[in-house]
Amino acid sequence: MLRQFKSVVHSAKVAKVFLWSNIDINIRLMSTKMDRNNFFFRQLFDPVSCTYTYLLGDLTTRDAVIIDPVLEHAERDAGLIKELGFNLIYAMNTHMHADHITGTGKLKSLLPGARSVIGKASGATADVHLADADLVKFGGYQLSVAATPGHTNGCVTYICHEQGIAFTGDTLLIRGCGRTDFQEGSSEALYKSVHQKIFTLPDHYTLYPAHDYKGLTATTVGEEKKYNPRLSKSLGEFIKIMENLNLPYPKMIDKALPANRVCGIY
Ligand SMILES: [Fe+2]
Repeated sequence: MLRQFKSVVHSAKVAKVFLWSNIDINIRLMSTKMDRNNFFFRQLFDPVSCTYTYLLGDLTTRDAVIIDPVLEHAERDAGLIKELGFNLIYAMNTHMHADHITGTGKLKSLLPGARSVIGKASGATADVHLADADLVKFGGYQLSVAATPGHTNGCVTYICHEQGIAFTGDTLLIRGCGRTDFQEGSSEALYKSVHQKIFTLPDHYTLYPAHDYKGLTATTVGEEKKYNPRLSKSLGEFIKIMENLNLPYPKMIDKALPANRVCGIY
């Protein structure tokens, strides 16, 4: 009887430990994986330029891509990719950045086999040039390319329909958008890109921008359609808002643009 009782207590303890470890695992998985499948997602940050970098991977094949890496964090990112056992296929940019130097070139040297990727209209050198409707495949996943010019000519948005997520670069920021007063910027083009290529996605799609300056990490199509103080307005009002931003000359532009024309290796 005593043995039976001890056995029940032991089983209950094991069950409790098992339950708690499962909860713990689930919490940890929720923070690194989206939906219940083998998709890996990690948002990384550069506090100097407030740039978000995204590492996406297929946990089965171990193929991964990185979006908008920053030169100064190439070793951090390469270390994480190696530690997690990923094979970096593509080091990608959403556009030719003016506020930081891309890490794609350095990542190629740290992780041989990776190829640099950028929109063809950017005019930048890369191993792979993308155009509207192209697909970027890694493992069992793919990113659809949407040309979203306006902030720059070569801006693209990467959409993963399987996960209901999109990486909007500087085309659409959380409650904002990229400036349109340099690098072939066009307010009209940006407005049309957002309304035709991003706001036409389902409202629940989560959007991940290239930057946020207030600590916000993501938004949704539905939220931005409703609350974006610029892009929820008419085209005419949007153009006026953009004309009156009076932004200072970008600090890094003279250094960043020449470097970013050649994957940050200069
Ligand atoms: Fe930008």
